Amino acid sequence: MFRRHKITVIGSGATGATTAHLLALKELGDIVLVDIQEGVPQGKALDMWESGPIEHFSMKVVGTNDYALTKDSDIIVVTAGLPRKEGMSRNDLLKINSEVVGGVVKEAARLSPDSMIVVLTNPADVMAYVAQKASGFPHHRVMGQAGVLDSARFRTFLAEALQVSPRDISAFVMGGHGDDMVPLVRYSYAGGIPIEKLLSQEEIAKIVKRTRTGGGEVLSLMKASAYYAPASSLAEMVKAVLLDERRILPVISYLDGEYGERDIYVGVPAVVGGHGVEKVLEVDFTEEEKAMFQKSVSSVREPLMLLNLDLKG
Ligand code: 2OP
Repeated sequence: MFRRHKITVIGSGATGATTAHLLALKELGDIVLVDIQEGVPQGKALDMWESGPIEHFSMKVVGTNDYALTKDSDIIVVTAGLPRKEGMSRNDLLKINSEVVGGVVKEAARLSPDSMIVVLTNPADVMAYVAQKASGFPHHRVMGQAGVLDSARFRTFLAEALQVSPRDISAFVMGGHGDDMVPLVRYSYAGGIPIEKLLSQEEIAKIVKRTRTGGGEVLSLMKASAYYAPASSLAEMVKAVLLDERRILPVISYLDGEYGERDIYVGVPAVVGGHGVEKVLEVDFTEEEKAMFQKSVSSVREPLMLLNLDLKG
């Protein structure tokens, strides 16, 4: 007997709700939208469920303040926590969001002990670490969302500079989800052609800079954090897991020696499928790329050390 997948989205703010709707539109499973705010997840879920006859999706979308409804979820998407405001760094959310993420993950993981966890809440690299500690799940079943989003921005800006479809741009960003993230120029192609053959170093440098501050650019424009591209990024990861696509995606993964790093979650290219992070892929670095990656990793280690991780593993 086949059954539909069950997806829990924790946090019914802009990103969580947009993610829930995208997941329903893509018919990836029945959706449970959870939040502490009474009425909000229920209202948003009912509203998006009612778009079903028009959008031709058969999935059920329910909202709740009660985690009991999340029981036996296949995947748990965590967007709960405070988004950053203008002038804040993602690390400014460290204390409050580690408490939020730790709490909601403990609750959800207890009811869905065999689920996968994807965390978006910022600072995303540290929150993925917190989620793994709080759930006690094997590392491969907990990942963070940042690289798909950062790579999408990188690809968008490259496509704009080349005046081509973003679909034909293959590029990825790794490292921490912060202003020192590492867009890998040497591994970026337009229709199979290295972008360094198509754009000047100056144009590429401008695009790298805009990519690194992509979140801040949206934040400064609308005085609120981005949510459309983050939601699409979460949906891409959920699909790769639930359909066992074995996609190569840049995701925040646990490193246990890869890239010379241990006991940290950070953005790296990985194979993402039915077991979550199936395999971390190690790419060769130039000395410059290695230094950039290590700098970005240290930007993740700092808040991680600041955080007194006394969560029960
Ligand atoms: C961003 O970069 C919200 O961190 C997310 O937009």
